[in-house]
Amino acid sequence: MGTQAAPATSEIAAVGVIGAGQMGSGIAQLAAAAGCGVFLLDSDPAALSRAAASISSSLGRLVSKGQLSQAACDDSVKRIKCVSDVEELRGVDLVIEAIVESEDVKKKLFVELDRITKPSAILASNTSSISITRLASATSRPSQVIGMHFFNPPPIMKLVEIIRGADTSEEIFSRVKSFSERIGKTVICSQDYPGFIVNRILMPMINEAFWALYTGVATKEDIDTGMKLGTNHPMGPLQLADFIGLDVCLSVLRVLHNGLGDNKYSPCPLLVQYVDAGRLGKKRGLGVYSYG
Ligand code: CAA
Ligand code: NAD
Repeated sequence: MGTQAAPATSEIAAVGVIGAGQMGSGIAQLAAAAGCGVFLLDSDPAALSRAAASISSSLGRLVSKGQLSQAACDDSVKRIKCVSDVEELRGVDLVIEAIVESEDVKKKLFVELDRITKPSAILASNTSSISITRLASATSRPSQVIGMHFFNPPPIMKLVEIIRGADTSEEIFSRVKSFSERIGKTVICSQDYPGFIVNRILMPMINEAFWALYTGVATKEDIDTGMKLGTNHPMGPLQLADFIGLDVCLSVLRVLHNGLGDNKYSPCPLLVQYVDAGRLGKKRGLGVYSYG
């Protein structure tokens, strides 16, 4: 596949974001701050309330640091409409889904989005690992399906990893790249391999940290301090796993293991046990660490 971008043909004005969790709320904030009308959808009304609060607090931090005026903050908040009916996304130019990391659940959503959205709409997935080509195959418009992988927390992290599916068109790639740059991100481009670029490299490190803990190499604190002070990472790998969500880490490792067929990606039993026990990390108040 070539990497030459065609010129962007039309600007994206209305965006649908599906999944109002850690990622979706931050993505909605970025799109609204860039002047787009945003429909933020979640099947759980409590998630929408939490998202509205976290967007206000995140924008509020920028106001208190003098990086955003109060008026611009208020305008961004007003541009976000929280909705629970997917039919409301009928008129959007771009949908970015950030729901649970499950191929089956995402495919069902893509079937619905294909039916509901206007024929020209771009359907993007924030998946951490799942094949864009397979998600695209659930739709009648595979040339308009693309991976748009943000990093947590989206308002702070400067990267978007764009993944072309087998049939993604150059025009769609170019428009999504322009949009990513418009919302302040640097773009890297990955082929459609399990875990793409960043998680292919990051998740084995996180898994290895769980193995180190599981086999008694060191305490969780020493593992994290080792990687923070020894390699200048902002967070240790176990703290980062809690921050990402242990369910997300486990799902990504399973995609790597199944897709690449190498036992080195096999999830550590301790990670599996934590997820089985509902210890999903910071978002649930308990993971490797507990959060007051
Ligand atoms: N909205 C707005 N501002 C925010 C914010 C948010 N949601 N979260 C943090 N900030 C701001 C803070 O206001 C602060 O700003 P100043 O420095 O100007 O005061 C700055 O970010 C740093 O925040 P804190 O002081 O609260 O905390 P920190 O210094 O520990 O930084 C962090 C927090 C940015 C998250 C940092 O710890 C970090 O970079 N951690 C690693 C994150 C990472 O690796 N993310 C990628 C995970 S992998 C992934 O996302 C892909 C996947 O598919 C799983
Ligand atoms: P999360 O658990 O914080 O939020 C997911 C949200 O999706 C929840 O609010 C849930 O109610 C909602 N949801 C689930 N199924 C739905 C459906 N069918 N329709 C509507 N809403 C639905 O998860 P997250 O951490 O924000 O991750 C979301 C996606 O982003 C996953 O694909 C994940 O792999 C990816 N991702 C996560 C991170 C991270 O660090 N957590 C980073 C990059 C990408």
